[in-house]
Amino acid sequence: MSSESGRKLKFHILRYDPQTPGDKPRMETFEIEEAPGMTVFIALNEIRAKYAPALQYDFVCRAGICGSCGMVINGRPDLACRTLTAKFPKGEISLMPLPAFELIGDLSVDTGKFMRAMTERIEGWIHDESKDNVNLDQLEARMDPDTADKIYELDRCIECGCCVSACGTKRMREDFLGAVGFMKVARFEIDPRDQRTDADYYDLIGDDDGVFGCMTLLGCEDTCPKDLPHQSRIAYLRRKMAQVR
Ligand code: SF4
Ligand code: F3S
Ligand code: FES
Repeated sequence: MSSESGRKLKFHILRYDPQTPGDKPRMETFEIEEAPGMTVFIALNEIRAKYAPALQYDFVCRAGICGSCGMVINGRPDLACRTLTAKFPKGEISLMPLPAFELIGDLSVDTGKFMRAMTERIEGWIHDESKDNVNLDQLEARMDPDTADKIYELDRCIECGCCVSACGTKRMREDFLGAVGFMKVARFEIDPRDQRTDADYYDLIGDDDGVFGCMTLLGCEDTCPKDLPHQSRIAYLRRKMAQVR
């Protein structure tokens, strides 16, 4: 049955507000009529408007750009604003908050705290000592277009957290950096403006909470809504770090 037919959709949504004393996690079911081109995000808006005014979930851009609407949709981390309800032929859709992040309430999690800590841990900025005395009149050096393309490919990460939530290693190791961190490191590692050496990166990711803890489970590669090249980049970083070891 297609989304054009106005079929009934059943949403099973995890409800829990850790801020409310005594509240317990539970699944609540809501039924709505499917509309043409409906996304999970649009369905959530309708559910909130009609049945559950306190329902918590996040969104900003509604276009797969801001990374705020990540959630587990029928068992798989994905973006609510980019997931069509028509994708689910049975019309039953379960929604859970992304694991691995602090729960704010219902489907809303605090990815910001995690991403900030990850950025600080890998020192996610260009390290260039010659820029300590910045000369604003100086033109930036030109970059080889192939290198710029490779950096751009990794810069497309929207920090949605789907890769981290799909990673079994992250479930077992609380301090595991996670695929988003590896993609950031891979991005700086190929940037000719960054003067860090392999030994510097080894200090950041050369342990079991870093690239040697990755068990190549590839949930990151399978779920990344931006199709970042997790498998090849993580393998590359691991080979590089093994040479330093
Ligand atoms: Fe999301 Fe992909 Fe970035 Fe992970 S690497 S945070 S899945 S965009
Ligand atoms: Fe996790 Fe991806 Fe490695 S899912 S174990 S970071 S390949
Ligand atoms: Fe921005 Fe979904 S609302 S990515």
